[in-house]
Amino acid sequence: MKNIVVLVSGGGTNLQALLDAEGRGEMPHVDLTLVVSNNEKAYALKRAQEAGVEGVFIKNDGDFETRLTELLAERGIDMIILAGFMRILSADFIKDFEGRIINIHPSLIPSFCGKGFYGLRVHEAALARGVKLTGATVHIVTAEADAGPILMQKAVEVLEGDTPEILQKRVMREAEWVMLPRAAELLAAQL
Ligand code: GAR
Repeated sequence: MKNIVVLVSGGGTNLQALLDAEGRGEMPHVDLTLVVSNNEKAYALKRAQEAGVEGVFIKNDGDFETRLTELLAERGIDMIILAGFMRILSADFIKDFEGRIINIHPSLIPSFCGKGFYGLRVHEAALARGVKLTGATVHIVTAEADAGPILMQKAVEVLEGDTPEILQKRVMREAEWVMLPRAAELLAAQL
């Protein structure tokens, strides 16, 4: 079983999907022991607390990675899941966890990804371009944003009348919440 931290910044619905999957016994190699947020007000911290998992807020300043590195070493963390984490990690930090960090991105990479594409903006861009299919991707994190090896992808239909919010919800429900626990288990079982 791998000792895993989930990094979050906001609502934490992907964190919730992970906690629920763990509760159902669907991730036998995954032990979610820690949640770290760079946003004090993130609802994700509440979700962690309700699930009985330690939640820590680390101020989103220049010392963020130093504090995070210390905390992960203290807790003996093996693997990192980025679940709606809105900060780009440095190449140095990533090197220490090479091949052991995954991220969920709300598009079919290589579309609508990289710098500036996060959260609702991704769905706004997909609708503006008029794509008929979008989806989500789980990938290994490397120094270049959203460019690491792809672990899993799932396509989701864009429907007439979609707003960014409606599309975001469908992508989460049909792709992200299903795929992230599976991808986490897949990598944890391999490490
Ligand atoms: C999710 O859609 C996730 O894929 C996206 O932010 C949302 C977070 O929601 N992540 C990114 O855009 C990263 N580039 P959540 O806090 O409810 O899980």
